[in-house]
Amino acid sequence: MQTVLILHNILRWGVLIFGLWALIGAISGVASKRPYSASDNRSSLLFMIFCDIQLLFGLLLFFLNSWLDKIKTNGMGATMKNAYDRFFTVEHAAMMLIALVFVHIGRASAKRATTSAAKHKKTLIFFGIALLIIFISIPWPFRNEIARPLFRWFN
Ligand code: HEM
Repeated sequence: MQTVLILHNILRWGVLIFGLWALIGAISGVASKRPYSASDNRSSLLFMIFCDIQLLFGLLLFFLNSWLDKIKTNGMGATMKNAYDRFFTVEHAAMMLIALVFVHIGRASAKRATTSAAKHKKTLIFFGIALLIIFISIPWPFRNEIARPLFRWFN
């Protein structure tokens, strides 16, 4: 599970980089009214793929790295009273799942849109909301009670 945790930590940077790349592309697309390009499609696809891999690793961590056992052993009430346990068992997982729904709806509706302007606009709105949720749900080192390191590496 340590390997999965390291990968989940590192891949967060992939999520943020490709998410920002797609978002900046959408902002420039809306502003300059340029056509939706293959590069726009690529950044959006990579953002979605990295999010989906994070979901897989996150589920593995949740079910196999003692978080579910914690709820079973201590009960939901006690888990919710502890800020650290509440964050990783409920808040982080739930918020990231909501963000992933926005990513998937955003990509699907941009694909369905018939004009470049509409494709950029859908990407901007849905990915913008998703990235905001992802950003505030990451256990950054400056978040006292739930702080996690910016990087982990294999020993
Ligand atoms: C874009 C999506 C996601 C991002 C960017 C993300 C990011 C992170 C980061 C940076 C950590 C701290 C890693 C460390 O301590 O080095 C973490 C921990 C964790 N994440 Fe996620 N996560 C995402 C989605 C999910 C999802 C969907 C779930 C569950 C369904 C999940 C479950 C967890 C759990 C259980 C931990 C604690 C791991 C442990 O210490 O055992 N994550 N996540």
